[in-house]
Amino acid sequence: MSERKIILGIESSCDDTAAAVSINNKICSNIAATQEIHREYGGVVPELASRAHQTHIVPVVHQALERSGYTLSDLDGIAYTHGPGLMGSLLVGTSFAKAMAQSLDIPLIQVHHMKAHVLAHLIDDGSPIPPFPFLCLTVSGGHTQIIQVNAPLEMTILGQTIDDAAGEAFDKAAKMMGLPYPGGPLIDQLAKDGEPAYAFPIPKIEGLDYSFSGLKTSFLYFLQKEMRNDERFIEIHKHDLAASIQQVLIDFLLQKLRRAIRETGIKHIAVAGGVSANSFLRKRVKQLEEKEGCTTYIPAFEYCTDNAAMICTAGYYLLLEGDLGDVSKPPLARWSFTES
Ligand code: KG4
Ligand code: ZN
Repeated sequence: MSERKIILGIESSCDDTAAAVSINNKICSNIAATQEIHREYGGVVPELASRAHQTHIVPVVHQALERSGYTLSDLDGIAYTHGPGLMGSLLVGTSFAKAMAQSLDIPLIQVHHMKAHVLAHLIDDGSPIPPFPFLCLTVSGGHTQIIQVNAPLEMTILGQTIDDAAGEAFDKAAKMMGLPYPGGPLIDQLAKDGEPAYAFPIPKIEGLDYSFSGLKTSFLYFLQKEMRNDERFIEIHKHDLAASIQQVLIDFLLQKLRRAIRETGIKHIAVAGGVSANSFLRKRVKQLEEKEGCTTYIPAFEYCTDNAAMICTAGYYLLLEGDLGDVSKPPLARWSFTES
């Protein structure tokens, strides 16, 4: 095998159809089609997501190749999200990647979506790359994990949510305030002009795990109580409400992350996943540099939310390792870190 690897990455685990082309760890193109249809329903509708993936996948892959300047015959492998995610959505990317790899007779590489979020940190875009071992707080719409990363393909989950994910908590809180889906970025925006005037207690959970469902309920009961007194309460106080719920969510995320830093002694700290686009989280993580003597790594926005560049990077390491996919394996809606 030559040293230079050109990889096409395909991501279709949830509601973004994405494709990217990389040469080793450098990204040549990174395209995503966001599905607007779900806004009307206040959350991702799986059946609509898979239909939209079918519509988007050909033009998105075509555009990724065109922008990269490479052609199909240049590709050394096709990496795709094999799971975890929505089954219907995964099936579209999986079938497409398998058919393409087989017709081109090149390696097919099965990528774990959550591991790929972590590996987005190894993308060579000029920003500092964390040395091993590092800790990664992965916070997305489906997962919340503190991961110890010892090597590109060697990761252990130290703690994770036992119910809702952090992004889900943001989205549900936003929905309670009457905001459209996905509410996370809107809470972030509103909070910029508000103060954390309402205190919600940080959940008490053992070890390095998280739980967000109790917090969601206390926010709901609080809103219901205040709305009984004044039905304009949410509209009048939306900035302070957003700042308050954001504060407790981020405080909780940071509380366990600090504990993981102390327990492992690891001072290289990364954040990944859609919620790492949150401006308050980014600020608080940065403060770990002064407060805990850490070095922190926060990816560019385009590599925080779901993207195919991270799939290319994960694919690159799997290809080097010779860990290739099997066309007979169906995608996995649930896929543990340890299962191959
Ligand atoms: O990683 P991601 O794009 O998709 C999943 O794999 O889930 O994460 C999406 C999640 C959504 O819950 C969205 O509301 C949240 O990330 N999110 C944010 C922000 N940007 C995206 N949450 C809070 N603040 C943001 N700025
Ligand atoms: Zn994701």
